[in-house]
Parts: sequence; C-alpha cells; structure tokens
Amino acid sequence: MRIDSLARPSVLSQPVYQPGKPIDYVARELGLDPAGIIKLASNENPFGASPRAIEAAIRALAQGALYPDGGCYELRRRLASFHGLGADQFVVGNGSNELIELLGHVFLGPGDEVVMATPAFVVYKLVTLLFGAKPVEVPLRDWTHDLPAMAAAVTPRTKLVCVCSPNNPTGTANSGEQLEAFIRAMPDHVVVVIDEAYIEYLENPPDLKPLIREGKNLICLRTFSKIYGLAALRVGYGYASPDLCALLERVRQPFNVNAIGQAAALAALDDKDFADRCRRANAEGMAAVECALSDLGFKFVRSCANFVLSKVGDGTGCFSRLQQRGIIVRPMVVYGLNDWVRITIGNPEANGALLEGLRAWRFSSKGCPVGLSGGFDLKLTEKSASV
Ligand SMILES: Cc1ncc(COP(=O)(O)O)c(C=O)c1O
Repeated sequence: MRIDSLARPSVLSQPVYQPGKPIDYVARELGLDPAGIIKLASNENPFGASPRAIEAAIRALAQGALYPDGGCYELRRRLASFHGLGADQFVVGNGSNELIELLGHVFLGPGDEVVMATPAFVVYKLVTLLFGAKPVEVPLRDWTHDLPAMAAAVTPRTKLVCVCSPNNPTGTANSGEQLEAFIRAMPDHVVVVIDEAYIEYLENPPDLKPLIREGKNLICLRTFSKIYGLAALRVGYGYASPDLCALLERVRQPFNVNAIGQAAALAALDDKDFADRCRRANAEGMAAVECALSDLGFKFVRSCANFVLSKVGDGTGCFSRLQQRGIIVRPMVVYGLNDWVRITIGNPEANGALLEGLRAWRFSSKGCPVGLSGGFDLKLTEKSASV
C-alpha cells in the first residue's frame, strides 16, 4: 500500500512553502564562497541583533541541558510592561508562523472560511488549506489591503480574517483609522488577525491595543525575526484578550519556544536604541534603493517595511542573474507576480552590490528588451500607501 493513501487528503493537496534560499544552499549550488553571498530574500535584519540579545543568548546556552519555561513567564511579563497589557494577554510561539498555525488548530475545520488579501503573506493560505478550510482571497487595491472589500467577503462561515500591515510582499500599510473601522465592523463570530511582523519599521505605528482592551475578537501578531534580528531563534508572539490567549495556549506544544530565544528576546526588548538605529538605517537604505530603481526605470511599490517589490522584467531571470553574482532576492512567481522580485533592504555595502547587479541585469540582453519594449510600464512608482 502506498503511504500516500494513508495521508489526510488535505495533506496531499497542500502547497509547499518556498522559503528564501539559504546562503549555504546557494554557495553549494553555484560553487561560491558563502562569505561573499548577500541574502536579501527573507526580510531579515542586515544589521544582525542587539549585542545585548546575543550575549543573553550565549549565557542561556550554559543551561542548555534543561527544558525551557514552556509558559515563557519572564518574556510574557516583559511584553506586558512593554505594551501595557496583562501578562495573560500574550502567547509566545516558535516564530509568529507557529501562532498562525495555532489559530488554525483552535478555529479552523472543513467548511470554515478565512478571508485574506492577495497577494499577502502566503502562510495564511497554507494554514487555511492545511485545516481543510477555504481561503477567500480579496485582491489588493492600489497594492494595499482593500478593507471594505474584505469586510464584504465575510460570510456566516468566516472564522478568521487576516490583515498583514505592513503587507508582505508589497510593504504597504493600512492606516490606524482604516484598521479600527474595519475591526469595529466585524461581526462577533469573526476573529481578526492583524499581522504586525514589520510594524517596527513604521515611524508612527497604529496602536490597536485599545480595541483589545475593549474586548474585540482581535489578535495582533509580532515577531523577533525582523527588526530585532533574531530570525534563527524563532520567537514570535500574539497579544489579545486573556480568553483568546488561553485557547491558543491549549494547542501549543509544551516547550514550543526554546530558552535561548526567550533570553535573547527579553534582552532585545530592552535595547530600544538598537531597534531605533535599525529603523533609521533601513529608511536610508530604502531611499537609496528606491532612487536607484527609479534611475534604472524599474517600477516599484512604495514600501514602509524593510523590503521593496520591484518590476524588473522577468523576475525569475533577474533572480538567477543576481544569484550568479552571489545576491539572493526573492522571485514572486508564487504570488503570480512573474515580472517582479522582492528585495530586502540590506546594509550600505549589500545595497551597493545589489544595485550593480540590477544595473547589469537592466542592460543585459535579457533585462533590456523586457524593460523597454515588452509593454513595460515606465511609471516609476505605484501609489504610496497612506500610513
Ligand atoms: C508578514 C509576516 N508574518 C509572519 C512572518 C513569520 O515570521 P516568524 O515566523 O519568523 O516570526 C513573516 C516572515 O517572513 C512575515 O513576512
């Protein structure tokens, strides 16, 4: 008997997540020195992590023989003082990806619907399908979540509505007023998930905690993988009502968040200066990359996160060309954006190398004709998001 025939049908039809290519993988594939490879494919922090977080992680390793605190007591207390909520209003996950899956465990089954934007972070759709529920995808408007259209897509079967702001892969954000009006308009049987993975890159981030305090069915997700530079340690969290957090606690693994990650995350929260410096450096890098994309005639979506979506002709071709130069970006075929790549903003050196690579692509035999005559739109930027 084939093992496949024993699997749940939703597993067999489950699409597989395609991550940004790891540096070592590309080095092996192309025979390159890993030290010379620049990864701009997964929106990690090119400035690494706070030295305080790294020291805390190293200290925690000394206790590596012991299981971690599965309840993340210290981290939840620290998050509570950081956000001005109760410690019982936090649930910590193995990255915020795990929290999206835990929401599936708690709320989703066959017949349920999840409203999400397209293109948006692909994990909402993967988790929805994994639990046999139906993704209801609402196209972006001006590259931004079309919240009125998403509200109109809610039915009595809707369990979750996922809003990614700033959105991956576009980098656009909805304003606090838009989000609040949307959340208030949601019926009681719907849980709103606001994914705030990139919120720390906003100068004036919206604050949805008053709605949580009011008791709305709302959970906000955050991560230590982006501005805090701890992607390898896998720590994310959600904040919501104590009742919603308690449901998620029921379905997590006993030791889902490792002790090294917990220690590093605690220390990272204390180093506000580091996060502020990264935000400023990202804004400078973004301005330089946007300026160069304009000069090259590549259209892009104005982003308020740490990455930019740009129309470069043949996205997969551009990705391969850059990869040959040791620069990894993300082709967007998976989102149906065949002519686009998503580029993480790097440090000044990485941005310089990227721009040289893009220039070479632009004036190569493959890049040039697509760019100039293949119906390529030379309008330089898309409408910017209102934040
Ligand atoms: C919008 C968004 N949400 C969540 C995540 C998951 O982050 P993590 O699981 O590393 O916390 C990512 C990662 O790229 C993301 O882009």
